Amino acid sequence: MTTTTSSRTHAYRASIIHTLDDPAKVGIKSSYQYFKDGLLIVENGLIKAIGSAEILLQTLTPDTPITAYENSLITPGFIDTHIHYPQTGMIASYGEQLLDWLNNYTFPEEHKFADKSYADNVADIFLTELLRNGTTTALVFGTVHPQSVDAFFEAAQSRNLRMIAGKVMMDRNAPDTLTDTPQSSYQESKALIERWHGKDRLHYAVTPRFAPTSSDEQLSLAGKLLNEFPQLYMHTHLSENKQEIEWVKSLFPNQSGYLDVYDHFNLLGERSVFAHGVHLCDEECKRLAETDSALAFCPTSNLFLGSGLFDLPKTEQHNIKVGLGTDIGAGTSFSMLQTLNEAYKVMQLQGKKLNPFKSLYLATLGGARALKLEDRVGTLLPGTEADFVVLDYHATPLMTYRMEQTTSLEEQLFVFMTLGDDRVIKATYAMGAPVHTRS
Ligand code: GUN
Ligand code: ZN
Repeated sequence: MTTTTSSRTHAYRASIIHTLDDPAKVGIKSSYQYFKDGLLIVENGLIKAIGSAEILLQTLTPDTPITAYENSLITPGFIDTHIHYPQTGMIASYGEQLLDWLNNYTFPEEHKFADKSYADNVADIFLTELLRNGTTTALVFGTVHPQSVDAFFEAAQSRNLRMIAGKVMMDRNAPDTLTDTPQSSYQESKALIERWHGKDRLHYAVTPRFAPTSSDEQLSLAGKLLNEFPQLYMHTHLSENKQEIEWVKSLFPNQSGYLDVYDHFNLLGERSVFAHGVHLCDEECKRLAETDSALAFCPTSNLFLGSGLFDLPKTEQHNIKVGLGTDIGAGTSFSMLQTLNEAYKVMQLQGKKLNPFKSLYLATLGGARALKLEDRVGTLLPGTEADFVVLDYHATPLMTYRMEQTTSLEEQLFVFMTLGDDRVIKATYAMGAPVHTRS
């Protein structure tokens, strides 16, 4: 009998990069680690070592399997900090801004998730699409139906993915067939928390859709849930669209602004993630930072719905945690590379730049920090979970040719983020197991 130790160890040889800190804080040079000829050693689903192949190959026993990826770059799996799985079927719906888009397209589609088998099918399509695009962790909206969350968690659990999701709480200003009540939303959320939170790699997020679709009583019960269970997430929308912001002001005249509505009901905190935050005042930025709450920057969605331009430098000045979100189905791509492509243009329209190393940070460690998961995912540091992707420098003829012209790592990253999409993702791994291999 041979020992089983090395059979649970696997090494991957390619160029390797991961982010160690926010380039805006520590400068670009100290923000990442890169090995041109690198080796990533995985043992029992966790990263055991990362370094240059020349040095690390000597540490392997002769029977350790090594997968060598030619013309490839290994990065941590991407982290999507805001996405709606039930909106997969209505991505690319024409012509409206937020509130009409919700009424005309989103709510009719979300009705269908009352049917568990419909939800099962979409959850499968959705996760397949995430993994095809190299995303291994996401913070995910369900619908108002608890069975939509069961469907999602069952599909994520069977793939052994680290995922966060929750049932929408929505008791007003939506079609009757899509609303719950404060009590039912509390009870159903609680049952889902007891069933799923902390099971395998899954976490629960208390998910009031946004302030306009919740009564005071419901928001207060959302706060109660956060109080009753440790380490729950809170996931909602904030200051996305100007009409929406005016509506919130008229619905909550006693609060000083949109964020203050959530603050009033104790929904801010280190595991609270607010999608968008496109139109925030300084006071709101200060309060987000003070409470260690995070924002999800969703460029393709903000452009598609004509919501506005996210001010990333302002969030850096205020020291707010920021992750990147696709916001499917208002967002237009599952690809975090394409999301970064649009993020760059959002900065350009404001006369600002988005450095490729900052982009890599946003899509990996920045997202992990926004989700308080940086000890588990978002880097390739030893001891963390082996969720990683293999990017192909030669994914298309144009990329092959453009990559030949590059003279720096920064330029190569920028080409990946500008021209790249699902075609770039050669393979995706979760806990060291292949969960997507490009055909
Ligand atoms: N605000 C409330 N619900 C939604 C939604 O489903 N998508 C987006 N982008 N914004 C929202
Ligand atoms: Zn959203």
